[in-house]
Amino acid sequence: MPYANLLYDVADRIATITVNRPDKLNALNDATIAELGVAIDVAVDDAEVGAVILTGAGRAFVAGADISELASQSPLEAQRRARDGQAVFRRFETSPKPVIAAVNGFSLGGGCELAMACHVRIASEKAKFGQPEAKLGIVPGFGGSQRLPRLVGRGAALKLLLTGDMIDATEAHRLGLADEVVPAEQLMDRARALATTMLANGPLALEGCIDAVNRGLDTTLEEGCRIESDLFGVLSATADMREGMQAFLEKRPATFTGR
Ligand code: COA
Repeated sequence: MPYANLLYDVADRIATITVNRPDKLNALNDATIAELGVAIDVAVDDAEVGAVILTGAGRAFVAGADISELASQSPLEAQRRARDGQAVFRRFETSPKPVIAAVNGFSLGGGCELAMACHVRIASEKAKFGQPEAKLGIVPGFGGSQRLPRLVGRGAALKLLLTGDMIDATEAHRLGLADEVVPAEQLMDRARALATTMLANGPLALEGCIDAVNRGLDTTLEEGCRIESDLFGVLSATADMREGMQAFLEKRPATFTGR
């Protein structure tokens, strides 16, 4: 399907979604958020795709929600906008296929929130992160106040939220907001290499890991361990488990089928 504000490409079982409004630093207007929802669904539904990379065109990953749209919103429109955006971001987070954010530049506000909804964040040395909503007189609307403390802890999250300060990639890495920092020219190669490593593993196992972490983080340790043991049991019924273990015993690479 053609997108007005995204580029979408599939190669080597990796779908790359590129937010493509570089003249507006890839700010997320409503249309772009809707297209992101379509694109992640297309990638998840495509049997030829096993992993997704999300990045931005030009010097930004995403510089936030589009302030020109936010500026005139009524309270009910704002609440609806936040809920719609949250629902789209949640589709990235709950994708059964790994989603890697390749953070190439500004990742602010909704951009930081979108990166946090991805499973792994690889940052270019040029990336900048922040939740500057308080500078605009608002709170984050796309899950930032919830995912940021889960990722970096309460104190570091509140420091970022209350100051609105931008931090560089090294500091984001130190906090656990970025999982790796690489030179800008290596960003996409590194994201693809990571996706390729994941693609060599069993797809049902990948889905299970994502599901266990997502559901486990929202519940008690005891309940999370039950979720894990249920998945452990279910995966033991799969051909992929038999293949993975047989391949180990035969000292050869496994060939997984997702069954
Ligand atoms: N919404 C709408 N437009 C945005 C935007 C946003 N979140 N972020 C950047 N843009 C637009 C600018 O208005 C400008 O458009 P113009 O050329 O038509 O005037 C263009 O993108 C380039 O941005 P500019 O501010 O000129 O670049 P810069 O290098 O001087 O500054 C930033 C870069 C990221 C520091 C700055 O753009 C910024 O602070 N953006 C807003 C970040 C933010 O508050 N996000 C949270 C929103 S809830």
